[in-house]
Amino acid sequence: MKATAVANANIALVKYWGKRNKELILPFNSSISMVCDGLHTKTTVEFGDYDEDSIKINNEELQKDEKDVLGHVERIRKIAGINKKAKVISEANFPVAAGLASSASGLAALTLAASKAAGLDLSERELTMLARQGSGSASRSISEGFGIWNKGEKEDGTDSFAETIAPKAHWPEFRMIACIVSEAKKATSSRAGMSQTVKTSPYYEGWLKTIDQDIENMKEGIKKKDFTLVGSTAEANALKMHATMITTDPSIIYWAPGTMEIMHSILQWREEGLESYFTMDAGPQVKILCLEKDLEEIQKRLSNLVKKTIVCKPGDGARLTEDHLF
Ligand code: PMV
Repeated sequence: MKATAVANANIALVKYWGKRNKELILPFNSSISMVCDGLHTKTTVEFGDYDEDSIKINNEELQKDEKDVLGHVERIRKIAGINKKAKVISEANFPVAAGLASSASGLAALTLAASKAAGLDLSERELTMLARQGSGSASRSISEGFGIWNKGEKEDGTDSFAETIAPKAHWPEFRMIACIVSEAKKATSSRAGMSQTVKTSPYYEGWLKTIDQDIENMKEGIKKKDFTLVGSTAEANALKMHATMITTDPSIIYWAPGTMEIMHSILQWREEGLESYFTMDAGPQVKILCLEKDLEEIQKRLSNLVKKTIVCKPGDGARLTEDHLF
């Protein structure tokens, strides 16, 4: 009863922000993302005759995601109808401070490894729905390339799943550069941030009103490989999401001075004809979207602004491997 899975992080191009159901993790809006090649978490799960569950993430027992992770193991155990305790070892190959939703790759890898170890044989769609209940964004780390997490309408969540809209081979020139602006631990988790936004931001309704159009534009942009449409839609969508955060009570401002510096530089570079766009999640890091042809020039200019960057392209979905961690 042992299995190992690898799953990549993903970067949201149209963001998920706000839950209509916190138990099942059902979102108010659909979201679109790209799975990031090479930024992965590997997780081995074994159900056996252990006295208690034990979980080690990046060589540390019981880290910050501990409750989510334990709850997720329990959820999978219930579905499989087993009661053996679990040993879980998980390792990410990128810094958690990269702000690349390490919970997404972590919970996606855990979902695949634990369900397999528990003897379940779930379809890709079922895996996305199960991963969703561990962490919303994890649903988008199961399928490859560019994917959508459909918000669904049903109360029971059976129509809230993720799926690929374009495989990674569709647009191999697409790049995302994660700029590590600050390694300080963030003050407000995305979970708390989105809950506070739904409750108190007067602009949350406005955010929701514009999402369908963003989703349509993003789907069309990806399909036609229209970088300007994809980049401009992603940038505007991220700014709208941050506008809802800034206007909560109390206000949540995830940006650091370095965040603003990169945003302004990108706007300036675009004026000069170097095309790239920015997007930020619930943290200070800036993720730059660009095409392979401009990568070198952008990296050269970035070297004056930020010390650490990580580049990635469209990647694979979650997969099983025999290369166990224990
Ligand atoms: O699923 P969570 O709790 O990691 O929330 C992710 C929220 C954002 O990263 C801000 C947006 C997104 O769609 O990934």
